[in-house]
Amino acid sequence: MNIPIAKPYFDNNEKEAVADSLDKGWVVQGPKVRAFEEAVRSFTGAKYAKAVTSCTTALHASLLACGIKKGDEVIVPSFTFIATANAVEYTGAKPVFADINLDTYSIDPGSLEKAVTPRTKALMPVHLFGLCADMDPILKTARSKGLKIVEDAACGMGGFYKGKHAGVIGDAGCLSFHPRKSITTGEGGMVITDSEDIDRKVSLLRDHGASVSDLQRHLKKGYLLPDYNIVGYNYRMTDIQGGIGCEQMKKLDKIIERKKFLVSRYEKKLASAEWLKRPVVPEGCAHGYQSYVCLFAPEKPRTLRNVQAMNEKRNRVMDILESRGVATRQGTHAVHLLGYYAKKYGLKPGDFFNSFAADRLTLALPLYFQMTEEEQDFVIEQLGEAYKECAE
Ligand SMILES: Cc1ncc(COP(=O)(O)O)c(C=O)c1O
Repeated sequence: MNIPIAKPYFDNNEKEAVADSLDKGWVVQGPKVRAFEEAVRSFTGAKYAKAVTSCTTALHASLLACGIKKGDEVIVPSFTFIATANAVEYTGAKPVFADINLDTYSIDPGSLEKAVTPRTKALMPVHLFGLCADMDPILKTARSKGLKIVEDAACGMGGFYKGKHAGVIGDAGCLSFHPRKSITTGEGGMVITDSEDIDRKVSLLRDHGASVSDLQRHLKKGYLLPDYNIVGYNYRMTDIQGGIGCEQMKKLDKIIERKKFLVSRYEKKLASAEWLKRPVVPEGCAHGYQSYVCLFAPEKPRTLRNVQAMNEKRNRVMDILESRGVATRQGTHAVHLLGYYAKKYGLKPGDFFNSFAADRLTLALPLYFQMTEEEQDFVIEQLGEAYKECAE
């Protein structure tokens, strides 16, 4: 068997949507991007949605739209994809790390509160793997100190916190449509927000600062070039991607339902594996299951040394699985361990212990719409055997 970690789900409808764009010749940001935005806006319940080239550019544009600039500080979790922190660096502000809760992999509200300084201007909770961060205490901190919240909802499609979709809880939320996510446009991202002001600024920033978009010009007075009052970027999504996105949105409920079914099978069949901590879903949260990430923990993570010893065993298990055709991955990385951040800010592994442990011990198992029950049973069986071989 050859079982990937994830797999995009396309059928003829995406192919026809691409062919339609090519036939019509409208391939840059246009009507299909607008329709995709409307579908995401309606699904998430946001007031506004603007598509961009990736979640990374969505994060950058959102931070700028929230007024983040050189000299400011923005708090980000130390266990997240590097793009969360990079987006802060792009603005000239300083990413300040806070540790996570090892049960949920989300930023620890207590650690976040302690990281606030007079320079802090924004908080960036990350809804990792499809589970929303614990937003109530984060909102409380933001309100009491007058801080903006930019939610990194790259993995958040289909994730809810107390009835609200990921990304519409703070000031702006950023989604990713990378192929590892539940729906994909190849590359792609979107800013969702209830703020008319943020939406308008993102709209300008993604299109070089143009005061009128191509689509607006196409509909009226196309011969007039727009004015440019700010320095913007080219973060426009293509209409080819917009068409794919529209078709993917029609599949989203079905994809999430199937993933939830497969997760329930993992939960049942892995319940007796005490060495593997399965994902925790706190009360009030609906998990979107962008991925199914467990913690390889034959013992409780206590020290750098015991985590490192378990890490060696985890990697052996992953090696064996790979040799048998089962792809696994570490959940994501601890950004404070990565060369650029460790060097620039003088960070050490033990500075954020839970993030270090999550980096070394997370184990994501294959999960995707087309996965058969037979394939899943093979993964579970091979996982059990690989662990036994390493424990011997
Ligand atoms: C938490 C998180 N933030 C940001 C990103 C960046 O998303 P993109 O690849 O769309 O730029 C990712 C992508 O994996 C992610 O997982």
